[in-house]
Amino acid sequence: MKRIMCVALPLVVFAVANMCYGMADAAEVKPPTTYLKWHYYKITNTCRDVEEYVRHEVKLFWDNDRSITPKLLRLVYSDCFITGCDGSILLDEGPNPEKNAAQNRGLGGFVAIDKIKAVVESRCPGKVSCADILHLATRDAVHLAGGPAYPVFTGRKDGGISDATSVDLPSPSISLQKLIEYFKSRNLNEVHMTTLLGAHTMGRTHCSYIVDRLYNYSGSGKPDPSMNATLLGSLRKLCPPRKKGQTDPLVYLNPESGSHYNFTESYYSRILSNEAVLGVDQQLKNGENTKQTAEEFGIGFEDFRKTFAVSMYQMGNFKVLTGNQGEIRKNCRYTNK
Ligand SMILES: *[C@@H]1O[C@H](CO)[C@@H](O)[C@H](O)[C@H]1NC(C)=O
Ligand SMILES: *[C@@H]1O[C@H](CO)[C@@H](O)[C@H](O)[C@H]1NC(C)=O
Ligand SMILES: *[C@@H]1O[C@H](CO)[C@@H](O)[C@H](O)[C@H]1NC(C)=O
Repeated sequence: MKRIMCVALPLVVFAVANMCYGMADAAEVKPPTTYLKWHYYKITNTCRDVEEYVRHEVKLFWDNDRSITPKLLRLVYSDCFITGCDGSILLDEGPNPEKNAAQNRGLGGFVAIDKIKAVVESRCPGKVSCADILHLATRDAVHLAGGPAYPVFTGRKDGGISDATSVDLPSPSISLQKLIEYFKSRNLNEVHMTTLLGAHTMGRTHCSYIVDRLYNYSGSGKPDPSMNATLLGSLRKLCPPRKKGQTDPLVYLNPESGSHYNFTESYYSRILSNEAVLGVDQQLKNGENTKQTAEEFGIGFEDFRKTFAVSMYQMGNFKVLTGNQGEIRKNCRYTNK
């Protein structure tokens, strides 16, 4: 039996105010304490139309290249999970910026953020943080890709330099238990985690992150026994055994979304039929709560969309800087001097 839980987000009336979802550990979900505000720039009269400026720019990028959506999603995730949602992932500054960490290889979307920031600065100089721009832009890109138009509360400030050595993002071969603990340390429970991993409904990854599953799983000399044989065959063609110095091709995380880069529930149905590309995704089938959530989302696109909205909201509140705790950078790549 599925239990249904409804979470009312605090403060506001918006399209998805009441979010209901079935889950095993519902009691753990609480709306986070936050000092962020709904339409902060409007109510403080600092940049009334910033959300429209961002939406307009994101649409231009998306029309030109749909991969903007997974790129921004990954940027937000990397930003929030490392030192909190403070825009530190955007910095080029310091001896070894966060973005240079091995786990952040292949990050994209920086050029889009620079362009949006330049437009916003031209309208409202010195008013809108890079951290907020990142969240607003990601929300708009997710919506364009068929995802929910979730609420982004604003009023974040930008943080200072942070070092690549502080990056502790999990590897694609982390165990399920460790992954659950990792998300928990960021105030995210198993439902949030399973939902946020749904960002892998689109985007690409390098073969080097999956070759162990294709040829030598856990040093066994054999492929991952949990991988669907049809998928194994097609991925082996795309990712031949790698020799030193060879290129590292890209493969779609969800071949069903592929070059459309759209938001679909097939990420979950594929996990259930052993067709997840990344090991970290496939193992969601092995946990009681994570499997139950995948089963629910695999047949319930609306449940997935709504819970994605809640989970992005929750993640976007992690360790935010407000008031005098940070600054509003002029250029997202550098702190103000
Ligand atoms: C598989 O991995 C193990 C452990 O890393 C290694 O010792 C072994 O040589 C590998 N086997 C093949 C066929 O590459
Ligand atoms: C994703 O895009 C493909 C191709 O346009 C389409 O067939 C599919 O229905 C889309 N899925 C969703 C959920 O929008
Ligand atoms: C493997 O994937 C194929 C293609 O999607 C599907 O038809 C088949 O049922 C799957 N096999 C298993 C054992 O789930």
